[in-house]
Amino acid sequence: MVTMENRLGLGFVRQPKSVLFGPGQRRQLPLTVKGIAKHALIVTDERMATTPEFAAMVASVRDAGVIVSVYDRALPDLPRSNILEAVALFAGKGIDATVGIGGGSVMDLAKSLAVVLANGGDVRDYYGEFKVPGPALPIVTVPTTGGTGAEVTSIAVIFDDDANVKMAITDAYLEPHAAIIDPELTLTCPPGLTAATAADALSHLIEAFTARPKNPTPEELATKIYVGKNRITDMFCAKGLALMNAGLKRVVQTPSDLAARSDVMFAAYCAGMAINTTGTAAAHAIQGPIAGLSHTPHGFGVGALLPYVMRFNLPYCTAEFAEIGRLLGVADGAQTELEQAHAGIARVEAMLAEVGAPLDLKAIGVKPEHFAQIAKQSMLAARLVLNNPGPMSEAAVSALLARGYAADRSWWTQP
Ligand SMILES: [Fe+2]
Repeated sequence: MVTMENRLGLGFVRQPKSVLFGPGQRRQLPLTVKGIAKHALIVTDERMATTPEFAAMVASVRDAGVIVSVYDRALPDLPRSNILEAVALFAGKGIDATVGIGGGSVMDLAKSLAVVLANGGDVRDYYGEFKVPGPALPIVTVPTTGGTGAEVTSIAVIFDDDANVKMAITDAYLEPHAAIIDPELTLTCPPGLTAATAADALSHLIEAFTARPKNPTPEELATKIYVGKNRITDMFCAKGLALMNAGLKRVVQTPSDLAARSDVMFAAYCAGMAINTTGTAAAHAIQGPIAGLSHTPHGFGVGALLPYVMRFNLPYCTAEFAEIGRLLGVADGAQTELEQAHAGIARVEAMLAEVGAPLDLKAIGVKPEHFAQIAKQSMLAARLVLNNPGPMSEAAVSALLARGYAADRSWWTQP
């Protein structure tokens, strides 16, 4: 029986030792790195590597007396081959910290390298939950998009290009030492990428706030990465949802609006803090196999699934969706709980629509002949399936996909 009751009154987050937020705060990078490293490996992608902001950050760390090596060939969706190449280049060179300056894949590369450079072996040895045998090198994250939340999470998502499958290292040893979140770095992020990463962050907030409280045993608290919705992650979700509500449309319409960039980037940080111990749920479980079929941006994939996942989950967490309606300012206590919940869901969809995110599955390349395969594979994401308030099954996911393909956003109660 699914219960949404947090019987233990639990609150639990994992987090970096320090989080520094604010426009211009990237200038603190040299002092942060100097405190932990003699020889830092800074990783980024080719686009970021050509920017004056990146050059200035590298120079500032060198000026602080730290030896800096740069790896600037990080690829999207972090293929394992990328990690193998960087390890071959830098193992045995005395690297004692990694710094990831970029989007989610870049930061995940910095985390993966910190694990392998400290523990040896192949990154494959560490796929799974709590498989890393000892501490990683200290990791510093500097995000350049407002979305994934990877700057504060203890997970690295890796595309194993030999096995052709998406894997992950989830381990508290991956928790960054420091996150430096500077919204100025997102000012040049193009509108399409801004919308997709913000849709991802919004999906994280919804999935974390409606995840199941797991009422974990002491043993589960110590050995599971995701322990369920709890009172601290709820606090981050509430703040993140309010900021997204105000900032999401503005940031896509006026990319130079630093206040809006700050709001969305802070919301993405809140979302990262929430999913780091709650995890995500059905939208992320189902998006995984869809990503393998059609190469939709992750944020648009989870965003397009969200309307149907929210409807599927609504009967199991009506009170939570009603609270989302109140947090987003579209519901009040005078309405019934169900009316408030409907208003909340409709507002989330309106926010996605306002930034041009697709709201149906045809738009992200899903076809009826894929339903069975997607449903089967989504059930393999066991950690996320367990988080979902609505009990997932292959049949339920197939039916949900059909609703999404037909863009059926009426108030159905059974997929
Ligand atoms: Fe995501």
